[in-house]
Amino acid sequence: MSAPALGSALSRPGLLVPVLCLAAMGAWGISVAAGSTFTFDQGIHRLALSAHVLAMVLAFGSVIVVDWVGFLWLIGKRGLHDTSRLESAAAPLIWIGLAGLLLTGAFIHPDVTNPATQLKMCCVLGLMLNGISLIPAMRTLHALPDGTMFKEVAVNLRARLLVALVLSQGFWWTAIIVGFANSMSRR
Ligand code: HEM
Repeated sequence: MSAPALGSALSRPGLLVPVLCLAAMGAWGISVAAGSTFTFDQGIHRLALSAHVLAMVLAFGSVIVVDWVGFLWLIGKRGLHDTSRLESAAAPLIWIGLAGLLLTGAFIHPDVTNPATQLKMCCVLGLMLNGISLIPAMRTLHALPDGTMFKEVAVNLRARLLVALVLSQGFWWTAIIVGFANSMSRR
C-alpha cells in the first residue's frame, strides 16, 4: 500500500482498527519468527535482554499510569479529560516501548517450543490487539463533556472499558511474570 493510500485508509474510522491489527500481527509474527530462528553471541544477547527490560519499563510504566488515572476517574477522583489528556500523551511511549520489546525480543532467542513462552507470546499479541481495538471506544469517551462521571456513561461503553482494563492488566502481568520466570529457569 502506498503512503497516501495508507494515510487515507487510517483516516477512515472503519479501516483504522483492522489496518493497525494487521500491522501489529505482522510485527509480532516477524519478531517471534526471527527470534526463534536466529541466535546471537552472548554479548549481543545480554545487551538485547537489558534493552528488553528497559523497553518493558517504558511501555508498562506508561500503561500503569494510564490505567491508574482511568481507575481514579472510575471512582470519581479525577475528571474525564485528565484521563484523555494523559492517555494521548502516554500512547506514543506505550507503542515505542512495545516496538522496542518486539525488536529486542527478536535478538534473545525465545524458546517457542516451551508452553510458558507460547502463553507469553499469546499475551503479547493479545495486549496489542486489545489496545488497538479500544481506539474507537476511547474516541467516543474523549468526545464526552469533561464533567462526565463513569456511572453516566452508556452501559455498553462502561462494560467495554472494564473488560479492556482487566484484559490489559492480565496480559501485561502474565507476559512479565512468564518473562522473568523463563529467564530465571535458564540461569
Ligand atoms: C509485552 C511484551 C513483553 C514483555 C512485557 C516481556 C517481558 C519480559 C521480561 C520481564 C523478561 C525477563 C527479563 C530478565 O530476566 O532480565 C523477558 C525475557 C525474555 N523475553 Fe520478553 N517480553 C515481551 C515481549 C517479548 C517478545 C515479543 C519476545 C520475542 C519475540 C520476547 C522474548 C524474550 C526472551 C527470549 C526472554 C529471555 C527469557 C526466555 O528465555 O524466555 N519477549 N521478557
